[in-house]
Amino acid sequence: MMRIIEVVEGRTKLLVPREEKLTKRNEVFYNPEMELNRDISIAVAKILKPGEFCDLLAGSGARGVRIAKETGITTVMNDLNPKAVKLMERNCRLNKVKCRITKQSANQLLATEKFEFIDIDPFGPPIRFVDSAIQSVKNKGILAVTATDTSALCGTYPKACKRKYDSVSVRTDYYNELGLRTLIGFVARNALRHEAGIQPLFSHCTRHYFRTYVRVVKGRRNVNETLSNMRFLQHCFSCLWRDYRNINELEQACECGGKLDTAGPLWAGEFANGNFCRSLEKELLNSEFNKRNEAVKLANLVGSEQKITLPYYNIHKIFKKLRKPVTSTPEIMENLAKKGFDVERTHFSGLGVRTNAEISEIIKVL
Ligand SMILES: C[S@@+](CC[C@H](N)C(=O)[O-])C[C@H]1O[C@@H](n2cnc3c(N)ncnc32)[C@H](O)[C@@H]1O
Repeated sequence: MMRIIEVVEGRTKLLVPREEKLTKRNEVFYNPEMELNRDISIAVAKILKPGEFCDLLAGSGARGVRIAKETGITTVMNDLNPKAVKLMERNCRLNKVKCRITKQSANQLLATEKFEFIDIDPFGPPIRFVDSAIQSVKNKGILAVTATDTSALCGTYPKACKRKYDSVSVRTDYYNELGLRTLIGFVARNALRHEAGIQPLFSHCTRHYFRTYVRVVKGRRNVNETLSNMRFLQHCFSCLWRDYRNINELEQACECGGKLDTAGPLWAGEFANGNFCRSLEKELLNSEFNKRNEAVKLANLVGSEQKITLPYYNIHKIFKKLRKPVTSTPEIMENLAKKGFDVERTHFSGLGVRTNAEISEIIKVL
């Protein structure tokens, strides 16, 4: 017998299973750790006001019911699990909202209907659903994709990354940024196959998952722009140099004489839109979400780090390599800025610095 408890997220009451351990074998899946993820999707939907929101893998309905209750947007919730469907129905009644609930295989639903906003929140990788979602989403509509298989995306299991995402991964000290860029690149390549491009509005890496919100736009201009952002990352483990390159520009050796490792294809462009991040930050500031402060900080950091697309530097790792005592990150940032370089913090790591300075310049400053 499933034990049910009531929790509150945002302005919504939710009946959810009470589990000692979270696994995909739970009768109905609800992860309290994903509240921030859900909070942000409510704020995103409030800004974009899509005609309809499809919660493709809805589980208990935690996200879909919140969208219906907190934004008033027409919501479709889908899940193959009959127990999940029952719980969604109870959650709709509890919150006095009307949602359309379907119990189909996700790809089946996507093959028969079109939506303005599709949310994919799977167990592990989203790969089985992205191609169908690209075909189902309306032109200029939004695809929101979560991936929790971070070890495949971040380079811990390169074979899994190759198999699932058709991309080569390398375990660098900015592994989480490469993971997010690999996921966005995967979504982009699926869009390209259907003559569409993507425009990332907001993406983040939080704890055990990656999340991206992209607008899918048909047309040659968007296709060409998306293609120009699909690149490879070359990294030197000897001197820590790194840069994006096109396939015909790849080199075997670094200028320092070290070997260059190559990751990709991956998304080399901005992973969020600056203006959208500002709107999101404002929307989150005005919210009463339990995770409000964390979400506001995240939107602010993601927005401000977009002008430098080169992966961030882990300053402590550089100090360790140089066998030097660590000095404070703000001081290093100030010194780089004084030399005329762009410099920003990153949401990926408290020890990370994003800058357009080459590694040799950073070492001089350290
Ligand atoms: C991670 S849970 C979703 C959690 C939910 N979005 C939330 O915020 O609480 C993934 C859900 O996908 C459902 N599912 C898995 N494969 C499916 C498929 N092929 N078609 C429809 N639902 C599927 C599972 O039953 C499960 O409820």
